[in-house]
Amino acid sequence: MSALPAQVRIVEVGPRDGLQNEKAIVATAAKIELIDRLSATGLQSIEATSFVSPKWVPQLADAAEVFAGITRKPGVAYPVLVPNEQGYDRALAVGAREVAVFTAASEAFNRRNINASIDESIERFVPVLERARNDGVRVRGYVSTVLGCPYQGEVPLGDVVRVASHLHALGCYEVSLGDTIGVGTPAKARAMLRAVAAEVPMSALAIHFHDTYGQALANILACLEEGVIVVDSAVSGVGGCPYARGASGNVASEDVVYMLHGLGIRTGVDLDTLAETGRWLAGLLGRETGSKAGKALAAA
Ligand code: HMG
Ligand code: MG
Repeated sequence: MSALPAQVRIVEVGPRDGLQNEKAIVATAAKIELIDRLSATGLQSIEATSFVSPKWVPQLADAAEVFAGITRKPGVAYPVLVPNEQGYDRALAVGAREVAVFTAASEAFNRRNINASIDESIERFVPVLERARNDGVRVRGYVSTVLGCPYQGEVPLGDVVRVASHLHALGCYEVSLGDTIGVGTPAKARAMLRAVAAEVPMSALAIHFHDTYGQALANILACLEEGVIVVDSAVSGVGGCPYARGASGNVASEDVVYMLHGLGIRTGVDLDTLAETGRWLAGLLGRETGSKAGKALAAA
């Protein structure tokens, strides 16, 4: 077992990955309050919203109002999802300084999620990346379905490596590897990360695990042992992609922070404040928090 990192950066994706998947549309003011509360926890990176087509994801149709309404804390990055130049224009108009482009390692999933092939989706990003470079906007990249696809089943490792390398070569400073439907297990997660890290520097990789089968923390630990230092997660365990059959919540940020701190790894995040935010969000959504650590801390 290799040494664990001393520090990990958490990319909080709840306001985007979480709220895009809620049946009920959350009020704009509540979205803003969620992000402002998350900004007070010590998180360094909070994915705020998504400038995709509002016809496809009506839950985040108020992306511009949300982004304009949040209080941006100095030193915190607030990336937003953009699928194309139209999304980039909307994000730039409200002052976004970091965007995230997204595609998948599976053709079948991409067709359903963004109505495009892998290559077509990348063609749409090329002008976004060019403009972002000129505008001084940072670009993160996502590769979905890295450990399995709801439509195609197995996803060859070679496809994951090819798509991740392509995004990195195009200028994404970080590429997040997404187990969109949470089917991975630790040995597979480790092998996938190792294969990608042979082509893309580990320092430019992040992991993004949904927790459908309860494997996310185990997968994260396996990947930490491989050397990854950036982990995506969502407060209260919210999340899922409306176009991925069987997708469930992201691994809960509170549970990740609890594990990392227990391993002696710094995150800069105040666990109590984060857990309180997770319970507040769960209350807003009318259910119990999806974080076991959040529940346990409330009972302690
Ligand atoms: P399309 O229908 O194929 O494309 O959608 P289009 O270009 O013909 O556009 C259709 C309409 O949408 C047009 O309007 C466009 O103007 C408009 P109309 O002429 O019909 O009035 N439009 C837009 N409006 C606002 N902002 C935009 C935009 N783009 C087009 N940016 C498209 C193609 C990519 C737009 C669509 O499929 C889409 O928005 N898909 C998004 C799906 C999505 O958000 N999925 C969830 C995020 S991915 C995820 O969750 C995975 C991740 O978490 C990692 C993991 O877990 O693996 C990241
Ligand atoms: Mg996701």
